[in-house]
Amino acid sequence: AAVAPALTAVKAAHWIDTESGRERGPVVVLVQGERITAVNEGTAVPAGAKLVDLGDATLLPGLIDVHVHLTSDPTTGTGNYYQDALTLDVIDDAVIAPTLAKRTLDAGFTTVRNVGAPGYVDVSLRNAIDRGLIPGPRMLVATVPLGSTGGHADDTTGFSPDITFGGPTGVADGVDAVRARVREDVKRGADVIKFMASAGVLSNEASVGAPQYTQAEMDAIVDEAHRWGKKVAAHAHGAEAIKMAIRAGVDSVEHCSFIDAEGLKLAKQRGTYLDFDIYNDDYILAEYAKLGTPPAQIAKEKLVGRVQRENFRKAVQAGEKMAFATDAGVYPHGWNGKQFAKMVQWGMTPMQAIQSATWNAADLLGWRDRVGAIKPGLYADLVAVKGDPLKDVSALEHVDFVMKGGSVDKTDATAR
Ligand code: ARG
Repeated sequence: AAVAPALTAVKAAHWIDTESGRERGPVVVLVQGERITAVNEGTAVPAGAKLVDLGDATLLPGLIDVHVHLTSDPTTGTGNYYQDALTLDVIDDAVIAPTLAKRTLDAGFTTVRNVGAPGYVDVSLRNAIDRGLIPGPRMLVATVPLGSTGGHADDTTGFSPDITFGGPTGVADGVDAVRARVREDVKRGADVIKFMASAGVLSNEASVGAPQYTQAEMDAIVDEAHRWGKKVAAHAHGAEAIKMAIRAGVDSVEHCSFIDAEGLKLAKQRGTYLDFDIYNDDYILAEYAKLGTPPAQIAKEKLVGRVQRENFRKAVQAGEKMAFATDAGVYPHGWNGKQFAKMVQWGMTPMQAIQSATWNAADLLGWRDRVGAIKPGLYADLVAVKGDPLKDVSALEHVDFVMKGGSVDKTDATAR
């Protein structure tokens, strides 16, 4: 006869019900195999269950970051922008990616959306994690982001035309070419499609917000991706590009820096997620000049940093759908949780910030049947912190316990 998988009981004094937005407790969460089978109020532990007693800790569902790039970060480069560009290749990215995935998981992020990686490294990383070969978060991956010639996805901009860059490129111009490029990403294993609707900060085009695709191109990307059953994330800083992307029907806008009143209204009407990476500015302004980043890029950061935070506040006040998105990779992986305090500083309640990284992020990913809450049937992705994150959300910067799919990744009260 088949033996039922062992029963584990995870017990904690407090837990956050991210679906209803309430703090409750005490709780005993029953886990069998990869899934949660029961969430019992109280302290009763069934006979025969293996007990994981987290004492006075607060238990939350595993955290979700919908905007990361697990193939690099400032700790993995040579320390110099041009040196990195000229000496690191896709194999360097592939070698380091598992380490960055592990740092992310250890920080309590059990699910991430990787919105851009070179050479399909993200596909291989996702697959190795899913097969249980290496530890890491659940991943949805975008593979190679689409962008116009000379735009934010065109890594050759600003370099001599004599230099040859290898590997697949997401550069595609015109409605036929962008449709073909979406199909190529899907063919290679993309779960989601990412495109650059506007100019960016950390790239060498002059603008930081100008639209980089026509409305027809954006419409074609979204139509094609949705026809293949893939959601679409659009990078956009500029007000016009944000509105064009929303009108095209994207599922989320990333960055959103200069979103205006009309953009907020459109997003609300369409139910578009707005993903603001509002921790980034601190790190870029503190560290990037030392890394030899071209001064023009740092000047662009100064144009977006503060206004992005002000517009984050407006988006919160307008009641927009918002998901937790850090752009980790621009800053060190594992630091993802530092953005929670920023989000509270700029207008969210701690519960709203937590929901943005759990139940609401799961909605954007289309994964509410898997992650985002402590609920029977979902994956047993659980994290615990000391103290009450609803009083001080920075408690989420120090996650002491991480379980993913019923397996304990980390249980170390002293780590980090
Ligand atoms: N990847 C983004 C870009 O280069 C990072 C923007 C970071 N700045 C910010 N204030 N969020 O455009």
